[in-house]
Amino acid sequence: MNRVFSGVQPTGNLHLGNYLGAIKNWVTMQAEYDCLYCIVDLHAITVPQDPKALQAATREVTAGLIAAGIDAKSSTVFNQSQVRGHAGLAWILNCMTPLGWLNRMTQFKEKAGKARDQAALGLYAYPVLMAADILLYKATHVPVGEDQKQHLELARDIAGAFNRNYGMEYFPLPEPMILGAATRVMSLRDGTKKMSKSDPSDYSRINLTDDAATIALKIKKAKTDSEPNVTYEPERRPEVANLIDIYAALAGQSSETVTSLYASSGFSTFKGALADLAVEKLGPLAADMRRLLQHPDYIDEVLRAGVERASHIADRNLREIEAIVGFLKP
Ligand code: AMP
Ligand code: TRP
Repeated sequence: MNRVFSGVQPTGNLHLGNYLGAIKNWVTMQAEYDCLYCIVDLHAITVPQDPKALQAATREVTAGLIAAGIDAKSSTVFNQSQVRGHAGLAWILNCMTPLGWLNRMTQFKEKAGKARDQAALGLYAYPVLMAADILLYKATHVPVGEDQKQHLELARDIAGAFNRNYGMEYFPLPEPMILGAATRVMSLRDGTKKMSKSDPSDYSRINLTDDAATIALKIKKAKTDSEPNVTYEPERRPEVANLIDIYAALAGQSSETVTSLYASSGFSTFKGALADLAVEKLGPLAADMRRLLQHPDYIDEVLRAGVERASHIADRNLREIEAIVGFLKP
C-alpha cells in the first residue's frame, strides 16, 4: 500500500515556498494516495516558542492546508504532539542513530549557528523525530521541498538500520518526492537565501495570508538586477531565475516556456504578469483562510478527528515496534 506522510511547522506564516515546494503537491497527491499531513508542533519547540503563538500558528497552518485544498475528510490532518507515538518512536530511533550521521546535517549547522553549545539537544535530534514521523505510519512517499532532502536520506538510513538490527524488512524505505518548477523558492530580497518564515523582512516572502495589494507590491519591489531582459541563468542571475521559477510553478508551465514567453519584454511587464498570476492563484486561498480562522471550533474539530485517525494507525504500529525491540507488556 502507498502512503504519503508530510509535515509543516507551526512557526508563523505559511509562505509561497511552503505552498509551491510542498503543499501544492500534497493537494494533488490526495487523489492517488492515503495521505497524512501533520502540523509538527514537537519540531517547532526545538527552538523557543511562545505558547500562545504556537497554539495560534497551529490553527493558522491547519486553516492554510484546508484553504489550499487539503480535504480533511479523505486526508488525515493532525498535530503531532497529540499522537504520543511520535515521541515514543523517536526515542527508540535515537538509540540506533549514530552521532556521526547527525553531525552531517546542514540544517542543524545553519540553525545552531556559532552558538552550537547553546543549541538544544532536541534541535540536534530533530531529523530523528522526522524519521519517526514517517516510519510510525510506514509511509512510502514523502513530498517536501528541496531543503528536506538530506533529512529524508537520513530517514531512509535509520529505517535501514532498524531493519538490519532486527533482521526483518519492517519499515519500507520512504521515497522523497520533490516536485514542480519551484522546489526551492528563494527570498525576494536575496536570491541566495531561501524564502523562510524566520526572515526578519516581510518583503522577502509572500505570505499565504497577504492580500492582493500586498502581493503585487512585494513582487514589484522584488530584487532583480540592472540588465533589461528576462533570461534564465540561475547561477549568474539568481533573483531573476527565482521569479521565473515562481511563475512557472504557479502557471504549471516549465521555466523554459516562461522565459521564452517574456524574453523580449522588460521587467515591468514580466513582474506585472507575475503579480496578476500570483493574485489569481493565491487570492482565493487567502480569503478562504481568513474565513476559516473565524471558526476556530471547526479547525479544532478537524484536528481532533485527525488525531483520532492517526492514533489508530500509530498505536497499532508502535505496539508492534515495541514488541520487536523487546519491551515486555506485563
Ligand atoms: P517548514 O516551513 O520548514 O515546516 O517547511 C514545510 C515544507 O515547506 C517542507 O516540505 C519544506 O521543504 C517546504 N519549504 C519550506 N521553505 C521552502 C522554500 N523556500 N522553497 C520550497 N519549499 C520550501
Ligand atoms: N522538517 C520538516 C520541515 O521543516 C517538517 C517535517 C517534520 C516533515 N516531520 C516531517 C516533513 C516528516 C516530511 C515528513 O520542513
